[in-house]
Amino acid sequence: MGDSLVEKRNVYWHTGQVLRTHRENMLRQRGMVLWLSGLSGSGKSTLAHALEAELHALGRLTYTLDGDNIRHGLNSDLGFSQADRRENLRRIGEVAKLMLDSGVIVLAAFISPLRAEREQLRAVLGADYIEVFVDCPLAVCEQRDPKALYAKARAGLIPEFTGISAPYEPPQKPEIVVRTAEDSVAQCLAQLLAYINERTGGLEVSAARC
Ligand code: ADX
Repeated sequence: MGDSLVEKRNVYWHTGQVLRTHRENMLRQRGMVLWLSGLSGSGKSTLAHALEAELHALGRLTYTLDGDNIRHGLNSDLGFSQADRRENLRRIGEVAKLMLDSGVIVLAAFISPLRAEREQLRAVLGADYIEVFVDCPLAVCEQRDPKALYAKARAGLIPEFTGISAPYEPPQKPEIVVRTAEDSVAQCLAQLLAYINERTGGLEVSAARC
């Protein structure tokens, strides 16, 4: 948003005295957003919640933002048209940004089907946006069909269903790719933990290093 528009609305940014680094030092961790993108049924939620449990056990402050859950509350007014999905992801991006500023490690599990929208998230969240492509062939997701949604979509009961009647554009340059059709949950988790570990210089980061 250009400065002139902000001035017209008479809203101004107030910088607080307690900064992100202060909160991170207190938590002895660095905030980041792991954004898991993939088809419905690819394993995003399973991995996000399992990763959260692992990180929590390691003493990290985490929060999982999960597509289905967020659509029960904050985004209960949104459907699955391209405009609604864009707004869904815009709002979650802003929520994730606030959480990042609070020093939390955020696990975000959303289909986030379009490249342009994911690039927008990267622009909003900056260097702490870590894109994880939860790669799983459509045929495997459809076979798993944990919520019986693919069957309904094939029967024409759910319009604009991702992978069936709405597009999914695979990430081209994600920071991490996990292959849930080939690797077990434990293997994918190990891969994600190794990445976080490397990025933070060890999960037992001391306050001095933050
Ligand atoms: S996104 O496209 O806007 O990123 P989001 O991750 O929030 O989607 O929600 C996806 C979940 O909504 C799916 O896991 C599924 O349970 C449910 N859902 C209901 N209708 C659709 C649809 N038309 N396309 C995809 N998912 C749908």
